[in-house]
Amino acid sequence: MTDFIPTPTDRFTFGLWTVGWQARDPFGDASRAPLDPVETVHKLSELGAYGVTFHDDDLLAVEPDRDKAIAAFRKALDETGMKVPMATTNLFTHPVFKDGAFTSNDRDVRRYALRKVIRNIDLAASLGAKTYVCWGGREGAESDAAKDVKAALDRYKEGLDTLCSYVLERGYDLRFALEPKPNEPRGDILLPTIGHALALINELEHPEMVGLNPEVGHEQMAGLNFVHGIAQALWHGKLFHLDLNGQHGPKYDQDLIFGHGDLKSAFFLVDLLENGGYDGPRHFDYKPLRTEDAQDVWDSAAANMRTYLILKEKSRAFRADPEVQEALRASRVDELAQPTLAPGETWADLAKDDFDPEVAAARGFHFTRLNQLALEHLLGVRG
Ligand code: GCO
Ligand code: MN
Ligand code: MN
Repeated sequence: MTDFIPTPTDRFTFGLWTVGWQARDPFGDASRAPLDPVETVHKLSELGAYGVTFHDDDLLAVEPDRDKAIAAFRKALDETGMKVPMATTNLFTHPVFKDGAFTSNDRDVRRYALRKVIRNIDLAASLGAKTYVCWGGREGAESDAAKDVKAALDRYKEGLDTLCSYVLERGYDLRFALEPKPNEPRGDILLPTIGHALALINELEHPEMVGLNPEVGHEQMAGLNFVHGIAQALWHGKLFHLDLNGQHGPKYDQDLIFGHGDLKSAFFLVDLLENGGYDGPRHFDYKPLRTEDAQDVWDSAAANMRTYLILKEKSRAFRADPEVQEALRASRVDELAQPTLAPGETWADLAKDDFDPEVAAARGFHFTRLNQLALEHLLGVRG
């Protein structure tokens, strides 16, 4: 048993914009004061985090002078040993991006957006970031008449190709990660799901430099199974990074604390991340509730990490439980890893099988028992 205290070896990271969210929403003003990124770095370090991530504009939360803001941020990183594994660009807040950034109908805006990304890539690389996230929140439309989607995808590709060529020419050790989202703030956003983004990557000049940064809530907003999405991203070798948070099904983007949405999905996600070959940071992209005060914000940051560690322990106990191991065998989960054709066999050998579909159809898979065992581990009555 563990006491669920996070340490930097757990590699938990947070966006500056998460704890720093002032809780402005479409109906109400900010309910909290801005946070100084320097304080955020120190606080998160005290709580056991490994690092922080940021949008270019997040650094300017309390110090408008970019050079001064960067110097103060670097000093806080040096003092705490906190890392910056990922950075990203704000291409959505300023009204100049109201019709998108890489895919705005306005060509001047597209050029400005690329310049804004390039400037922050230099900073990201100098801070040691290995992943650069592109979340195209404003890339989309509210009317199908307003956007030539095929042309927009040409421009999306052109933008990413241009950024890859910049990184290659500069010799930075940096890869891009696209973050899909179905809607909000635009009515419909381009690259709405993991699958759409994977397909676009295949069309790029440097597909090996571009992967994914999927977010729990974004797939769940579309009614999709996040665990399956992550498994497929891993299968393609494209899980470069991820955003952990919580969501209650298809509704507005809740950005809840990890585990505070669909808890069962969170359990199977941790089980997959811990056993499925992902070795990147465990990054939280959540919003402290608008009802919370300054101290509640730090409690909420701690809650993300504690919940992850609890689920990690639950996953370990689940896998170690002899009854679960027996149930997995009874459900023949391991049999799926066995190739359908034996070595040397071809389609012609399929005809040789002595197979009675009625007998096979009568066999149960006993998945109910497996699911119940998982639930009982999660509910704390086993292990
Ligand atoms: C959202 C998005 C954003 C992005 C972030 C990175 O909640 O809709 O996840 O938080 O992850 O802006 O660009
Ligand atoms: Mn996100
Ligand atoms: Mn979100």
